[in-house]
Amino acid sequence: MNITFRWLFVLSFCMTLKPIQSQEDPSMNLRILVTGGAGYIGSHVCYYLKEQGFEPVTFDNFSTGHREAVRFGSLVEGDLLNPEHINQAIQKYNPIAVMHLASFIQVGESVKDPLKYYQNNNVGMINLLNAMKNHHVPYMIFSSSAAVYGNPTYTPLDEDHPCYPINPYGQTKWMIEQMLKDCDKAYGLKSVSLRYFNAAGAAPEQNLGEAHEPESHLIPLMIKAAQKGDAGKPLKIFGRDYSTRDGTCLRDYIHILDLADAHLKALSYLRGGGETLSVNLGSGHGTTNFEMIQKIKELFGVDVPFEYADRREGDPAVLVSTYEKAEKVLGWTPQRPIETVLTDAWKWHQTEK
Ligand SMILES: NC(=O)c1ccc[n+]([C@@H]2O[C@H](COP(=O)([O-])OP(=O)(O)OC[C@H]3O[C@@H](n4cnc5c(N)ncnc54)[C@H](O)[C@@H]3O)[C@@H](O)[C@H]2O)c1
Repeated sequence: MNITFRWLFVLSFCMTLKPIQSQEDPSMNLRILVTGGAGYIGSHVCYYLKEQGFEPVTFDNFSTGHREAVRFGSLVEGDLLNPEHINQAIQKYNPIAVMHLASFIQVGESVKDPLKYYQNNNVGMINLLNAMKNHHVPYMIFSSSAAVYGNPTYTPLDEDHPCYPINPYGQTKWMIEQMLKDCDKAYGLKSVSLRYFNAAGAAPEQNLGEAHEPESHLIPLMIKAAQKGDAGKPLKIFGRDYSTRDGTCLRDYIHILDLADAHLKALSYLRGGGETLSVNLGSGHGTTNFEMIQKIKELFGVDVPFEYADRREGDPAVLVSTYEKAEKVLGWTPQRPIETVLTDAWKWHQTEK
């Protein structure tokens, strides 16, 4: 073989080799375990993952989730409090990441029965982290909450604001964020804790929406009161003497599909070598409870029957977040305004039985 021929031979051999697969190669494992995938936010995340070419696997015990919402991938019916359940699920499906949304979420209940919350949210998390460690799952996206901050000393809140949760629910989220930092240091498990402000809205064309039992969130309560007319109970607005534009509480609402999108952006960030961090998901501005009632009237021409009640303990006047860090680090910005949040939620509640 002369030199030129030998080089041609080497070159043609190299061309038959497959290139190293890029992370987005569709033949790669794009399976993601979604704990709490039968719940309000989890079911929308599963829908969105499927839309984007991923393969969601729901892990849920249906303590508050809905069977009919699990339509976008496989289901493992299991309880995070049973280490075998979660170990077997991870072993069987071998996901590239876990999106961890399973949790108890009622602030008031967490005050009355804190151990129920520490047991489910924290012990469940330890079982999940052990299973991820045993099976070398490298990434977690965790549903944290604005509740980690406690009473704001300034607004809009950014991630530098001190975290002093004022109820056991918020404590469970804060403690988990600390666990995740330690698991990164010790085992190299990388995570993004997404501190959601108020998740809201729906995907009505997918027949997905917000249905908690009991319901404590303003938008579904407000829409039910409006759509059921006199048959519905009047909405209770807690407090009318806060230092806000109209005396009622001011909150930051994020469309559920914008939240779902943040989960995928957080995963891309980690897969691109990003470090463990916590980031707020807010819209940068808020709407008061009274303004929400006015918007329902403007958008749908319907009055919301409501009455004022005393302030609730632990309700800050204003809970609004910046999204600078989410934009800078994850490339995420909220896309859907409050009018879209309300319109999608309204449409979904019209179809709810
Ligand atoms: N809804 C909001 O506005 C909001 C705001 C901030 C943070 N979050 C967080 O987002 C996540 C999802 O909230 P959501 O509104 O969809 O609640 P949800 O109650 O609708 O969903 C929670 C899901 O987790 C499941 N689950 C609970 N404990 C489990 C366990 N031990 N094993 C297996 N499955 C279990 C439930 O069956 C349910 O399907 C929660 O972690 C919550 O703390 C929600």
